[in-house]
Amino acid sequence: MSVKRTVWRIPRAGSLARLARVGESLPDPAPGQARLRVEAIGLNFADILACLGLYSATPSGPFIPGLECAGTIEAVGPGTRLVAGDRVCVLTRFGAYADRLNFDQDYAIPLPAGWSATEAAAWPVQGMTAWYGLVERARVAAGDTVLVQSAAGGVGLQALGILKSVGTKVIATVGREDKRRFLETHYGLSPDSIIVREPRRFKAQLDQALAAVGATGLDVVFDAVLGPYFEPAFGKLNPEGRFVLFGAADFMPAGRRPNYLSLLWQYLRRPRLDPLAMISANQSFIGFNLIWLWDEVGRMPAAIEGLIRYAGGHKPYVGQRLPFDRAPEAMQLLQSGGTVGKVVLEV
Ligand SMILES: NC(=O)c1ccc[n+]([C@@H]2O[C@H](COP(=O)([O-])OP(=O)(O)OC[C@H]3O[C@@H](n4cnc5c(N)ncnc54)[C@H](OP(=O)(O)O)[C@@H]3O)[C@@H](O)[C@H]2O)c1
Repeated sequence: MSVKRTVWRIPRAGSLARLARVGESLPDPAPGQARLRVEAIGLNFADILACLGLYSATPSGPFIPGLECAGTIEAVGPGTRLVAGDRVCVLTRFGAYADRLNFDQDYAIPLPAGWSATEAAAWPVQGMTAWYGLVERARVAAGDTVLVQSAAGGVGLQALGILKSVGTKVIATVGREDKRRFLETHYGLSPDSIIVREPRRFKAQLDQALAAVGATGLDVVFDAVLGPYFEPAFGKLNPEGRFVLFGAADFMPAGRRPNYLSLLWQYLRRPRLDPLAMISANQSFIGFNLIWLWDEVGRMPAAIEGLIRYAGGHKPYVGQRLPFDRAPEAMQLLQSGGTVGKVVLEV
């Protein structure tokens, strides 16, 4: 027997203005599935890029955005090992902007003890992004000097937690002065290791910060901004250095729909690397998209275990909570680049 639910659905990607709140019915969970009464939904930069049609994995037709949520199971399908009443956070390949949803049991993670649904919904995607990029791919090690771009954002704060437990030196960048103060106050970073990025001065800013942490170059760069900051950071990479690129926030349009001409201009001017120079410099470039791991679900338990181990079980920092019916406003906040930590919708 189906139940009623409310979702935020976009008929086709291309403009945030197309996102609409609609009621619909949800069928019973299929075998291996369970139905979640959603209590909180974690927002990701990718939600906005998907609605704008700028995300490689954007579905072609109508879709419900959202990659993660948390809540209580209220029904299970045949043969499902989960039981009604279990509290879980759930990874979804889109579909999380809903007050109820059916999910595949393999993509559920038990709510960590003592965490609220809001905290749990703020955790898996950004935590696994930081863990996968820094630990699995860049093999970050104690003593490394690591540059973290957008360090006060959702992924950035998770990265800082991991790097603290590994024991690296950290240089953090942010886009605004208030975020520098936040990192000093809440994460104990020294002011001279935090850069408020300026495109024309970024090379000099990096030199100053490197001197402040007692290093001459970077062992790891963890970057999802790209733009004018890429080349100065790449230029500071040590031999054996690893540059991890996992996003391009600099391409984020400011408005509700993309300006394709200006995106094309940015795309044509994107940074280029010389692979031959990387041989003699002994450097590595690593790109990744976590969504690639969607079909590698067998690796998820090890990923969660690794994340818990490296992040020391710390709760994520939730900077903004908005009610479910204000989803477009929450997305605009995240899109503005002014948010700190995680933005969560509460149902
Ligand atoms: N490849 C993957 O698997 C994967 C997975 C998750 C996230 N990501 C990427 O990782 C990045 C962080 O994601 P998140 O969800 O944690 O978001 P977030 O860091 O909380 O928010 C994005 C941040 O990007 C920075 N930014 C730089 N240029 C911007 C612009 N033109 N417009 C708006 N913001 C701009 C802003 O911080 P500052 O100005 O302080 O730098 C902003 O706060 C995003 O680029 C996202 O696409 C990639």
